[in-house]
Amino acid sequence: MRIGILTISDRASRGEYEDESGPALREMVQQHFGEDVDLTFIVPDEFMEIKRALLKWCDDAKLDLILTTGGTGFAPRDVTPEATRAVLEKDAPGLVQAMIAASLQKTPHAMLTRMAAGIRGQTLIVNLPGNPKAACENLQVILPALPHALELLRGKPGEHHTYENPIDEEERKRDIASD
Ligand code: MTE
Repeated sequence: MRIGILTISDRASRGEYEDESGPALREMVQQHFGEDVDLTFIVPDEFMEIKRALLKWCDDAKLDLILTTGGTGFAPRDVTPEATRAVLEKDAPGLVQAMIAASLQKTPHAMLTRMAAGIRGQTLIVNLPGNPKAACENLQVILPALPHALELLRGKPGEHHTYENPIDEEERKRDIASD
């Protein structure tokens, strides 16, 4: 399993503040999966920078899982969910709903995250909040479902998702002619 952790923070990217969420998430991943994280990076709260990093990690590095931390709230510079949705091909709302439902048991502020989760190619991307405690609390909720999620994403070995073409050419021509 190949995993990346993308920290999204203006201050951490400028080196004014030490990234604590990335390393905290890394530690959790190591403990849960018994494997180290493959890639880590810090970008500022810039739509294009976040989008570019996600595209590279999905399409070039072909990671199985990308966890992002930060930029999911209501602040003017928070654009992580928008940049994430710009690269997603499929939504995974259940993960977000589960994290928010569990987090609401801890703090009413949990409703202030706008985080997204979904799939691009065979990569699952999950946004997490920026605060280290909040990021870990949210990851804790989805950890039990992640192995099965990633197994489903990869598909069975040798399985090709090609289906018989349900469009019959003759029928199509007749339909066009009669329109
Ligand atoms: N979720 C949990 N489990 N614990 C928390 O402390 N903090 C919330 C929320 N989700 C929190 C949480 C707060 S205060 C905010 S503003 C949003 O996540 C968004 O955080 P972000 O802007 O750092 O991404």
